[in-house]
Amino acid sequence: METERLIMRPLTGSDFDAYAAMLADPDVAGGLAESVGTSPADAWRSLATFIGHREIRGYSHWALVEKSSGSFVGRAGPWQPHGFPGLGVGWCLARDHWGKGYATEAAGAALNYCFTELGAEQVISVILPGNTRSISVAERIGHRHLRDLDYGGRRVHLYGSDRRPS
Ligand SMILES: CC(C)(COP(=O)(O)OP(=O)(O)OC[C@H]1O[C@@H](n2cnc3c(N)ncnc32)[C@H](O)[C@@H]1OP(=O)(O)O)[C@@H](O)C(=O)NCCC(=O)NCCS
Repeated sequence: METERLIMRPLTGSDFDAYAAMLADPDVAGGLAESVGTSPADAWRSLATFIGHREIRGYSHWALVEKSSGSFVGRAGPWQPHGFPGLGVGWCLARDHWGKGYATEAAGAALNYCFTELGAEQVISVILPGNTRSISVAERIGHRHLRDLDYGGRRVHLYGSDRRPS
C-alpha cells in the first residue's frame, strides 16, 4: 500500500527501536484508547500485538514510512482485537511527524481498504474524549460521532463511517 507521501507496509520486529521511541513520548502513549505505557517493554508488547493481529486476522496496522526520507512515521490501519466494538481503523504518529497531514492520509487509505478489501459495511474508531487531534483526523476522513461507550475501563467516543455507495 502507498499514499502520495507514505509507504504502508506490515510492521516487523525491525521497527522496534523507532516504535519504542514513538511510545516513549507521554503525549503519544497518552492519546491511545488502548492504554499503553511508555517503557520499552510496553512498546515491545504493543508491537507484538500489532504483528500478531495480522497473523490472527489477516490485517493490522501498517508501519508508515515517509517516502522522502525512509523514516518511520508511525502506524495506522484496520484493527479488531477481541472485544472491540466493530472493525476499526486507528492511527498513531511519532511526535516529530504531527502536523503534516500524514495521519489523515494514512487513515483515509486504511478506511478505503476496509471497505474495498475487507468488505466492511461500517468502520469505527474509538477515541478518548479530549483527544482533539484524533477527533479531527476522524472527521477529516468522514467519520461522524456515533455514541459514547465504556471500553477498556474508560468512557470513550465511538466514531464511524458507513460504506459509501459505489
Ligand atoms: C492523533 C494524531 C495521529 C493526529 O496527528 P496530526 O498530525 O494532528 O494529524 P494529521 O497527520 O492529519 O495532520 C493534520 C495537521 O497537519 C497540517 N498539515 C500540514 N501539512 C499538511 C498537508 N500537506 N496535508 C494535510 N495536512 C497538513 C494540517 O493543517 C493539520 O494541522 P492542524 O493540527 O494545525 O489543524 C497524533 O496526534 C498522534 O499520534 N497522537 C498520539 C496517538 C493518538 O492519540 N492516536 C489516536 C488514538 S484514537
